[in-house]
Amino acid sequence: MSFDIGRVRAAYPALRDGRAYLDGAAGTQVPVPVIEAIADAYRGGLANVGGAFPASARSTEIVAEARRAVADLAGGAAEGVVFGPSATALTYRISSALAKSWAPGDEVVVSRLDHDSNIRPWVQAAARAGAVVRWAEVDAATGELPAAQYEALIGPRTRVVAVTAASNVLGTRPDVAAISALARAVGALCYVDGVHATPHVPVDVAALGADFYATSAYKWSGPHVGTVIAAPALLETLHPDKLAPSPDTVPDRFERGTLPFADLAGVTAAVNHLAGLAPGGPGAAGGTLRERVLASMTVVEEYEAALFGHLLGGLAGMSHVTLYGKAARRAPTAFFTVGGLTPRAVAESLAARGINVWSGNNYALELCGALGLGPGGAVLAGLVHYNDETDVERLLSCLDDLG
Ligand SMILES: Cc1ncc(COP(=O)(O)O)c(C=O)c1O
Repeated sequence: MSFDIGRVRAAYPALRDGRAYLDGAAGTQVPVPVIEAIADAYRGGLANVGGAFPASARSTEIVAEARRAVADLAGGAAEGVVFGPSATALTYRISSALAKSWAPGDEVVVSRLDHDSNIRPWVQAAARAGAVVRWAEVDAATGELPAAQYEALIGPRTRVVAVTAASNVLGTRPDVAAISALARAVGALCYVDGVHATPHVPVDVAALGADFYATSAYKWSGPHVGTVIAAPALLETLHPDKLAPSPDTVPDRFERGTLPFADLAGVTAAVNHLAGLAPGGPGAAGGTLRERVLASMTVVEEYEAALFGHLLGGLAGMSHVTLYGKAARRAPTAFFTVGGLTPRAVAESLAARGINVWSGNNYALELCGALGLGPGGAVLAGLVHYNDETDVERLLSCLDDLG
């Protein structure tokens, strides 16, 4: 199944400025159907939910549709899809709700591979509860997060294991299923950060063994909305702080205040867009949205892997470039330094030549420490499905000039 990159790129107006958008790991551009869905929602008239008039009913339907779409994206139940301003905000909410039942001496396990948004909320909640934090370490030479170490980290007092499905800088995709199985064996919950994995691979929360799966729509061509997916029965057991008159039902009780209704219309459009990236993918014909998402993302993963191979091959051939991480399974994200230049200077130099990349620790603070980079981090160039060979060639050629 070939991937029609010309058709895909044409859907993204922002790409017409001629720049190489290799900054997708920190947020993607938005295609026309998503922009139109958001504009149409406003055009059609919106109101808060629960009213007696049509605009309110429209908002109610937009929320319900967005929950169904995210459930189809990740393989969960629509009634277990919680929306919020960001993955970080939702991880704070869920960790605070879970920690209400923690006792001194209980344990949480976090990893140094993770973005800080799946570390600090747990560390801070643990400190408030008198719980102990245990750290899973990264192999600095490979960028792997060996799953075997969790056998010693998880025990009878473990309450939560927080781990990423993909590192936002190294791309490493740990064996989450093995880690979550160890957690489940002692009755602990597994909170999976799927923010970086979701745009790159077909996702199945059940196969991952994720009790909670966090993702952010702005990483997969949608608006700035975060979401956490969990089993409704699990959410029923939690009682986050909330306002007295707001609904106490699940998942609404986790959603503080008014939801961004127009953006949620954009979330649904983004999932449909992902499902249509490779419309003829394996098993896609006439399938459900879930089937089409899985088929399309399977093709996206293959396309990105080939492009990433080209990027890694080029970087490996440059003696002035130091590349971090070489995990066996990884999202298409390269993290590197250039001899004699700070990461920021490299990013500025590339920006001046029409190439967007990020620099710094990108909130993978613990990981940058483990890699010996410190908080200054490195240069981050991330591929997504709308990048092409030209983007990669431009980056490689400019980096070559910096040698
Ligand atoms: C892997 C990962 N986790 C979490 C986050 C935080 O997401 P949000 O900006 O929605 O809080 C990011 C954002 O870059 C990320 O890349």
